[in-house]
Amino acid sequence: MSDHSRHPFLQGLSKYRGAPATVVVIFGASGDLTARKLLPAIYNLSHDNLLPPDFHLVGFGRKPLPDAEFRGHAEAAVKEFSRREPDPGAWSRVARNTVYVAGGYDERAAFDRLHALIQKLEADSGRELQSLFYISTPPAAFRPIIENLGASGLAGRHAGSPLQSKVIIEKPFGRDLASARELNRIIAGVLQESQVFRIDHYLGKETVQDLLVQRFANAIFEPLWNRNFVECVQITVAEDGGVGSRAGYYEQSGCLRDMIQNHAMQLLALTAMEPPVSLDTEAIRDEKVKLLRAIQPLAAVDVARGQYAGGLADGRAAPGYREEPGINADSTTETYAALRIFINNWRWAGVPFYLRSGKRMARRVSEIAIQFKCPPGTLFAQDGKFDLAANILAFQIQPDEGSTVLLNAKIPGLETRMQPVKMHFRYATTFGSNTPEAYERLVLDAMVGDGTLFIRGDETEASWRFISPVLDRWQAQRREGLEDYPAGSWGPKSADALLALRGHEWRKP
Ligand code: BG6
Repeated sequence: MSDHSRHPFLQGLSKYRGAPATVVVIFGASGDLTARKLLPAIYNLSHDNLLPPDFHLVGFGRKPLPDAEFRGHAEAAVKEFSRREPDPGAWSRVARNTVYVAGGYDERAAFDRLHALIQKLEADSGRELQSLFYISTPPAAFRPIIENLGASGLAGRHAGSPLQSKVIIEKPFGRDLASARELNRIIAGVLQESQVFRIDHYLGKETVQDLLVQRFANAIFEPLWNRNFVECVQITVAEDGGVGSRAGYYEQSGCLRDMIQNHAMQLLALTAMEPPVSLDTEAIRDEKVKLLRAIQPLAAVDVARGQYAGGLADGRAAPGYREEPGINADSTTETYAALRIFINNWRWAGVPFYLRSGKRMARRVSEIAIQFKCPPGTLFAQDGKFDLAANILAFQIQPDEGSTVLLNAKIPGLETRMQPVKMHFRYATTFGSNTPEAYERLVLDAMVGDGTLFIRGDETEASWRFISPVLDRWQAQRREGLEDYPAGSWGPKSADALLALRGHEWRKP
């Protein structure tokens, strides 16, 4: 075996072809995420022949539902949300092994029924099955599900073998440091860490994985990747949509919890961490945790928050957050958050990392932009004025995936005049556009027991440790410092002021 074939990031499909016979159980089977993401992911894996030949799907939910009705619901979801036109053959391979179990998440007897069902599937197929439990429910159900997986013996099936039970846990993983710790404690009482797959779907995105490849498979970046050459880093996760139909969840969450604590912090960790000693799961996770622990606590001057007011979305009038259905008229939930982060280590001391995320912003765009220091202006200063643009390396996570380098170039002509120009790499142009969805990769990785693209317990706590005090402060401040921004804009003015402290400006990607 060559050394490369052992690395999760570099492995070919052989790793997946070895996925063991598996039963996937989805808790929260009639939920939105199941319909939009999980069922289409399973369908697309079947389409690509990446599911093991002996694959079973069990929907588990509170609502009583005959098997046939669940299959019908699942097929409709696949038709509506799959990235591909459903092919009846690929779907029927899943559908013929799909059943439904009704039960409460705190109902021990329902978990015994589930256990009996899995034993029967094993007996019928004549081989041992791995169980992969996907917890895709509201967070209040996490604890009873995990405890019942333990009490019913489901968590301990095939313990110590590659077929040991595995559990994928959806976000939100806690709502502050104390609750994240508590959840980790409950999990540790039932499961080994190697059985636990805490999801952050951003890690499953192709472009996020490519970030590591671009950073570490190219020689030209590493020498510049530090405080000597980098002026600042901007990480943007902007959405043009509003709160939509998730008012109940979002009111309790807000942007800092919903997007920054997890997705934006993961992008930060991958951008700023030290090169891992190998591409093995724990080597990468160790570096991310080290980085998160080096973040300096945030002062009041390092944060900004906003709430969208009425404005424009897609050229049409859009209501403000507090006018949205299901939202309190005096809500203080932030729909936008920006942070200025300093990392106290040798590589990054003094370099600001700006993170922002918001709903109802001017565009849906996620990117990581490394802004380099300006070259000395001695050669090109005109009339004592010096206006060379800073070089920028931007990774576009979505949409329009790719990367761009901004350089200064001469405008053709007799005069020496300059203009910033862009060099682009576009996924769609180079590789075509039908890339797998994050959830396909993540479900499959969990099935083969590869936790590289999932979050370790200590990592969740390292990130909350730093976010929790900001949440506490905002809660105490109520509306103070919570600024309205028009829907369809780039966010509140206080966020611009945050960058102006160091003479920087937000990009408008
Ligand atoms: C989810 C958040 O985690 O990510 C949503 O709960 C958000 O509020 C979504 O819309 C964004 O994901 P993506 O993949 O569309 O960028």
